[in-house]
Amino acid sequence: MSDGIRHVGVIGAGVMGSAIAAHLAGAGISVLLLDIVPPALSGAQLKEPRARNQFALQGVEKALSAKPPLFFEPDVARLIEVGNLEDDLAKLSNCELVIEAVVEDLAVKQKLFGTLAPHLSESCILASNTSGLSLGKMNQVLPEELRSRFVVMHFFNPVRYMRLVEVVAGPDTDPEVVARVARFGEFLGKGIVYGKDTTNFVANRIGVYSMMLATHEMLAQGLSIEAVDEIAGKPMGRPASAVFKTSDIVGIDTMIHVARNCYDSLGTDSERQIFEMPSFIQDLAKRGDLGRKTGAGFYKKQGNDILVLDLKSAEYRPPVPVVFDGLTLAKKAKGTGARIAQLVASEDAAGRFAWRILAKTLCYAAGLVGEIADDIVNIDRAMRWGFNWELGPFEVWDALGVAASVERMQADGMNVPSWVTAMLSTGRSSFYVASEGDVTFYDPARRAGSALTTHEKHLTVASYKAQSKNVVRTNAGASLVHIGDGVLCVELHTKMNTLDPDVVAMLNEAVDIAESSFEAIVIANDSEHFSAGANLQMIVGAAMAGQWDKVDGIISGLQNALQRLKYASVPVVSTPCQYTLGGGCELAMAADCSQAYAEAYMGLVEVGVGLLPAGGGCLRMADRYTSEVSDVEGVDLLPFVAQASLNIALAKTSGSAAEARALRYLRPTDRVALNREFLLFEAKQTALGMASSGYRPPRPLLLRAAGYDAARTIGAKIWGMVEGRFASKHDALIANKIAHVLCGGTVAAGTVLPEQHFLDLEREAFLQLCGEKKTHERIEHMLTTGKPLRN
Ligand code: NAI
Repeated sequence: MSDGIRHVGVIGAGVMGSAIAAHLAGAGISVLLLDIVPPALSGAQLKEPRARNQFALQGVEKALSAKPPLFFEPDVARLIEVGNLEDDLAKLSNCELVIEAVVEDLAVKQKLFGTLAPHLSESCILASNTSGLSLGKMNQVLPEELRSRFVVMHFFNPVRYMRLVEVVAGPDTDPEVVARVARFGEFLGKGIVYGKDTTNFVANRIGVYSMMLATHEMLAQGLSIEAVDEIAGKPMGRPASAVFKTSDIVGIDTMIHVARNCYDSLGTDSERQIFEMPSFIQDLAKRGDLGRKTGAGFYKKQGNDILVLDLKSAEYRPPVPVVFDGLTLAKKAKGTGARIAQLVASEDAAGRFAWRILAKTLCYAAGLVGEIADDIVNIDRAMRWGFNWELGPFEVWDALGVAASVERMQADGMNVPSWVTAMLSTGRSSFYVASEGDVTFYDPARRAGSALTTHEKHLTVASYKAQSKNVVRTNAGASLVHIGDGVLCVELHTKMNTLDPDVVAMLNEAVDIAESSFEAIVIANDSEHFSAGANLQMIVGAAMAGQWDKVDGIISGLQNALQRLKYASVPVVSTPCQYTLGGGCELAMAADCSQAYAEAYMGLVEVGVGLLPAGGGCLRMADRYTSEVSDVEGVDLLPFVAQASLNIALAKTSGSAAEARALRYLRPTDRVALNREFLLFEAKQTALGMASSGYRPPRPLLLRAAGYDAARTIGAKIWGMVEGRFASKHDALIANKIAHVLCGGTVAAGTVLPEQHFLDLEREAFLQLCGEKKTHERIEHMLTTGKPLRN
């Protein structure tokens, strides 16, 4: 729930303001987006509203064309009203929250607050999106009565995709305001970290320190830019953009600004010199090479090649391949902690470099507990959510082994904060301790462990599985887990949650068990993706060997299991989330209801491997595109099945749950959760609500077919695409089969057919395509490169 916040004013329509506005609109909030009247206006323009609102209008336009997209769907831009800070201030009185995102300049922000204050309602919360200016100094200019409603709400860029929002309260901020802002942030799908009013707050303080440290160590150890990026990315559990690619994306001028802010204001910080920008970076900025926005920074794109800055010549050159034993060994390790441990244990230059920056960052972070945030949990979350580290500093430290790494740090002359050694001396060997599903974290202020509390809506399958009594059945592909209140969760746990015979067996068992002993079924997992599709390896082996009975058995097994889910006597809720592709999309669509994550990338993409959906995907698309109109007298079903066929033939994949709805992978009645962490909770509530409100399984479907002539008309259009070289002949073969299935085969228009008829057509067409050489080539290409082949 949005906590009563339904109208939000956003001031400043630059990079952040327009992205915040886009995200708010995606959450269904009405936004008033204001910016200054352009100073360069003259003459008649001074009276022209479009000209006066130009900055806010441009902000929305930029957000609409941003890549990756900032809006879940462009249509919601209608929820953003644009205006300017001279003509539209009175409209702010309607807002429950106003977020300022103007230039990072204290004087500008202070002046702005003076302008805004008289127009805010008595209960309106005023928030600043500052990256690190002093809340105390901003507070000084506010009227007394507004100070209790003033807070920092620091979003990260790009707003839609970065989970972190740092919330910072001042001495006068009402705790209820902090709680309300946090709840609103969670409603927007964000993870909240509570920071303190210190320079650059939590994530940027540690993240920028670590990047600066890597730069200084690179110079000290004589490494190259490309070597640092190879070591400090995935092998260290950080994003592949590592240090210098990240700087190019953020902008080198911004990096300089943030680092200087730390250097200037952290007079007593013992690591202050790390924030001093090396001269070669200052030189880059001076010559205007600021990163991606200027076309060159640490890297430069030249034609199809990416060149890198040579530290000696200050010219760009092709990157030199980076080869270190430490990196090779780290890549083989399983899991982030093991990977990092392997790397820092390596005695080559990569290992030494990784150890230095990691160990010093851990010490730095430990030294800031209490100063920038109350506890290690907020620091770990800030780094995971704000910098996309796979593990936060204290989680990494646990993975390395605290005692052993402290010994090594001390031997290397590093300054390990005394509370860490004090913790070890109490006999506690790690920052986090898990036992029977409960986790404690070490709290230096109390010199003891504190219970790690998670949000009441943050359920995980893992936390239920931690108690063995909840695991009802399990095999290599999936588990059935009791997630309380009579809800049975089907958790897929194959690689990328692909569907294989083990998964299918568990789906059948889930129905058997739930129908006798449970109220409802939820299909969900804790991992990033719902399911990347069917396990191709399984099908390709049988298809290549011409074992048609085996392929037929696999496909009918999947169809039967999904039909059983659909007609189970208990409600079934699926949770499409990120990759929900091919068979994964069919699994999600077979449920009575989907509780989708806003970032649901759904598509029936089988054409990419030369096949068509045969787990009921064609059947369900035919139904979803025609059911509303099929009983309308005289209606021609052709345009509806043609659209459904096109979606499948072009493997149209949604970029969000909102788009999945437009493509009908989701129904209008399906729900969307903005917060990934609440997905399981919300799906469970939906399932329980259905179970307790008289759930009855649907009646078996009868579909009115579009008929053979419709398939032929679609076929003619497909041929046109081949002639125009938009599609290959193999694409056309598949597309024709898709149209054939969706139109009901060789029947007259209007023939009423049972579902099984469509399922049989799907299976038959699938088997035929399995015999095609070009389909084999597509599958092999996908398995070896991970990319579709257009042949
Ligand atoms: P920007 O430069 O893209 O946009 C700033 C906006 O402020 C412009 O639309 C400009 O017209 C407006 N503006 C300029 N002077 C003004 C004035 N006197 N009164 C009112 N508005 C004025 O800046 P950006 O990047 O969007 O940053 C905005 C805020 O968000 C800053 O406080 C920044 O530190 C913070 N921030 C920026 C992040 C980023 O990655 N760019 C990330 C997180 C926070």
